[in-house]
Amino acid sequence: MSDAPMSDTSVSSILNPTGSDHSLIDLHKRKLELVFSNDIPDVWYDNNPIATMLWASFSVTLPEGERQFIRSVRHFESRVNDPALQERIREFAFQEGQHAKQHSLLNDFLRARGFPVDAVLKDLNKLIEKERALSPKAQLALTVTAEHFTAIIADFFLTKHPEELDKMHPELARLWAWHAIEEAEHKSVAFDVYMTIFGDRAYLNRLMVLQTWYISWQMTRHMALFAKTTGDLFKPKSLVQGLWYFAKPSSLIWSSLPDYLSFFRPGFHPWHIDNRATLALARSRYLGEE
Ligand SMILES: [Fe+2]
Ligand SMILES: [Fe+2]
Repeated sequence: MSDAPMSDTSVSSILNPTGSDHSLIDLHKRKLELVFSNDIPDVWYDNNPIATMLWASFSVTLPEGERQFIRSVRHFESRVNDPALQERIREFAFQEGQHAKQHSLLNDFLRARGFPVDAVLKDLNKLIEKERALSPKAQLALTVTAEHFTAIIADFFLTKHPEELDKMHPELARLWAWHAIEEAEHKSVAFDVYMTIFGDRAYLNRLMVLQTWYISWQMTRHMALFAKTTGDLFKPKSLVQGLWYFAKPSSLIWSSLPDYLSFFRPGFHPWHIDNRATLALARSRYLGEE
């Protein structure tokens, strides 16, 4: 659970018995125009090369990853009878489509800087090809589990450690803040579709274990590939700084572990992690919305 103050209505009273309430939060259709100009340094996050390479290489996987999320959820659109959830599917697809677009721009910038964008893409495309050969249920479940990761990453930047965004170049902070805001807004869409159609939590939990292994391994590999290009993978100072980024008590790993584990709790729903208050603050601060 986040430390954010609860709004006037508690989540438990809002959620209906199936665990979903589509009026819980508004999903906005926004179009952001970002410019990745030459004044952005290669190391744009807290003077920390390894941390920068983690998020830069993660960005490379997003456009294709987001398109797979959209496909896997939209596949079931006609089997959803609730018009409110149908509308949320469309809003979810719009938001993920916009993320794909803006991260492609960042990826072009990274490619022009000489980072091995295409090597990461090749790796990712192989995996997506394998994923697309799986059953539609497995593809949807994998999206649900990936969306839990994006939701807890979003909460890390919005609620747990918003000061981390201040350590980024302003244009990158805007990108990650906007993406985090929308990941938080739509965090239950894929989950609600899956629960409406399958409701099979044991299967979801098994795929979460698989997804955890996959995401950790791929992110580490891709980060190392990027850090090799700049030589930071072999510099003791960068390595120590990078290890501390992951090991410190306020790191993404340690501060998000309880939320990650809550996925396996019986009856879990993404909105049990209630970050509506910090979401409103971030909307105002980064997007000028009231
Ligand atoms: Fe996204
Ligand atoms: Fe998402």
